[in-house]
Amino acid sequence: MNNYEFITLEGIEGVGKSTAIGVLSQVLQDKGRDVVITREPGGTAIGEKVRDILLSTQNGEMSALSELFLLLAARAQHLAEVVSPALIAGKCVICDRFFDATFAYQGAGRGLDTSIINDATGLISPFFLPTLTFLLDAPVEVGFKRIETRAETDRFEEQNKAFFKRVRASYLNRAQQEPHRFVVIDASQSLGEVTHKIELTLNEKFGD
Ligand SMILES: Nc1ncnc2c1ncn2[C@@H]1O[C@H](COP(=O)(O)OP(=O)(O)O)[C@@H](O)[C@H]1O
Ligand SMILES: [Mg+2]
Repeated sequence: MNNYEFITLEGIEGVGKSTAIGVLSQVLQDKGRDVVITREPGGTAIGEKVRDILLSTQNGEMSALSELFLLLAARAQHLAEVVSPALIAGKCVICDRFFDATFAYQGAGRGLDTSIINDATGLISPFFLPTLTFLLDAPVEVGFKRIETRAETDRFEEQNKAFFKRVRASYLNRAQQEPHRFVVIDASQSLGEVTHKIELTLNEKFGD
């Protein structure tokens, strides 16, 4: 039994992670939790600068390894400055993407060896691992459709369908490997249905 609450949201672009964070946070606050909402890459002043580098479409020449270590630099800062202090203080941390995304995007998406990612992520986040992870899962086409009206696409959103299909498959595979941590939600359902599933899960795990 973990004595901290670290909830992460994962899934490809457009599945509804940012939308779901609002629901999660409200339900947990209603249950009396002191909630901290954050995201990766980013979540700190330094991390948000790194995020800009990572997402800028001007950085098309970035190598996969460089991408990995920029992400991990942002995560190291995020853990030190936001996540660890909040968890130690007994707060409930909800994070929009965390280390599963590194395996899905830099591993399956970019093709980096899982062992490299394992070693590198293990170096910077050995203490606090997520206790509950919502995987919002939907076909790539559904996510793409929902974000087609976004004003600008970032360096990840520019990737082709095959890239996101690999990312989605990797997420589903990780969920299968760790069924106790993951809750997979069919994100192609209506927002009302997704919200209902999240509420049910939180009631089950955290009590009514
Ligand atoms: N279940 C849903 N059904 C229909 N539209 C949704 C659903 N969830 C989110 N959306 C909409 O899809 C878009 C992308 O959602 P967002 O939460 O920003 O996705 P993400 O953070 O995963 O990229 C937003 O316009 C949001 O309002
Ligand atoms: Mg989002």
